[in-house]
Amino acid sequence: MKKNSFFVFLLFTFCFISAQNNYVAPTDTLVQQKLNQWHDYKFGLFMHWGTYSQWGVVESWSICPEDEGWTQRRGPYASNYFEYKKAYENLQTTFNPQNFHPENWVEAAKNAGMKYVVFTTKHHDGFCMFDTKQTDYKITSSKTPFSSNARSNVAKEIFNAFRKENFLIGAYFSKPDWHNENYWWPYFPPKDRNVNYDPKKYPEKWSAFKQFTYNQIEELMSDYGKMDILWLDGGWVRPLSTVDRNVEWQKGIVFDQDIDMGKISRMARNHQPGLIVVDRSVGGEFENYQTPEQQVPDKPLSFPWETCMTMGNSWSYVPHDHYKSAHDLIHLLIKIVSRGGNFLLNIGPGPDGDWDTAAYARLKDVGAWMKINSEGIYNSKPVAPYSSNNIFFTQSKSGKEVYAFYLSDKNEVVLPAEIRIGNIFITKKARIILLGSSKNLKWQIVNNELVISIPSSLQNRSAGNYAAVFKITQY
Ligand code: GLC
Repeated sequence: MKKNSFFVFLLFTFCFISAQNNYVAPTDTLVQQKLNQWHDYKFGLFMHWGTYSQWGVVESWSICPEDEGWTQRRGPYASNYFEYKKAYENLQTTFNPQNFHPENWVEAAKNAGMKYVVFTTKHHDGFCMFDTKQTDYKITSSKTPFSSNARSNVAKEIFNAFRKENFLIGAYFSKPDWHNENYWWPYFPPKDRNVNYDPKKYPEKWSAFKQFTYNQIEELMSDYGKMDILWLDGGWVRPLSTVDRNVEWQKGIVFDQDIDMGKISRMARNHQPGLIVVDRSVGGEFENYQTPEQQVPDKPLSFPWETCMTMGNSWSYVPHDHYKSAHDLIHLLIKIVSRGGNFLLNIGPGPDGDWDTAAYARLKDVGAWMKINSEGIYNSKPVAPYSSNNIFFTQSKSGKEVYAFYLSDKNEVVLPAEIRIGNIFITKKARIILLGSSKNLKWQIVNNELVISIPSSLQNRSAGNYAAVFKITQY
């Protein structure tokens, strides 16, 4: 009782909102354990990389015949769809990322405090960044110059390099495949992102596609070492019965595109016990966590979730992309974690096989902040009221420690002499410190607000401090 009565927050119970109410919690205890581990890790690296990086265009989408802002074609072939697609697919013959040294990425990501990685083994365009035996539209094909490099099976190299540093390993895999003749059958022109024939009418074609998908996923799950997450994108490949007509992009799904996730998951978990399966946006038992994209839910959700977001403006490499500041990245991480989510932050490697120097610089700054403050991030849980003005909360698993993250304004380098936290009650016995210092801070309760005094010696923060973290411990 003593323990529990220590912090009494006004809104003690979680006030959950449900973005999708079709979450089904896994019953497999190994999957539950892996999900808990993943959840404790909080911060991961996402990478979108393919032949498209040579043109510096959006990943895959420029070959999708939909009239959307992000599908616009540019360059000399733009005016003719078929010529464009041919030139795009011909990028395979010039892809030669000579500066590919995944160890540099591991070092930068590890220093930044990231603990898992998700890599695009195959995006919608169908180009395989792994040595599949199902197609020669792949980086290890003799058509691709990089195939002669000893490290040409880049997915394997990336997974091995990150695994060495104990990252959890995730394979992004697109279910739709715009290169495969059994998905976009060349007999018909493609109309949109979906399969371009009726699978019910041509069942042998669809079953060939299902087999191809199954085989590719089996390769990834059996030849690439220990895998932790199978992150499946392209949510329009789904049983017709699961389509939500209220969601704009799902309105165009007219055919049943059931890929047999039950069979795929059983096979994948046979090879990889405890594997987390993320059948994005489909819901149900094969979506072990949900993935809000480029956004942060404004409240905790009642199921495990991960915000995936770009560090630049694009998932793919774009020369001179604008990268978010370390200030913004740290604030995003804090907001996400205070609401119980994970942060999967994307960097797109360039055609030479390396990141933009800005990406390294941002991760370095994030890492400097994490070195001092990550104890309030890892293994934490949300705690009501989650936030109060510019202060966000997390708590340790036991609830003994509460962390209050004071988010500084962009140019604020000096902390105020006093910080007031509303909606928080505290018993008489508590120790409050600012992470990075062991000095006990003076505090009092004034009009239901916790008022923490900050001595001038601790007020001066160097410009890199972005957010000050107060650790409040019962004793
Ligand atoms: C968006 C993009 C897709 C990308 C995905 C990552 O849906 O359209 O290309 O892979 O985000 O979450």
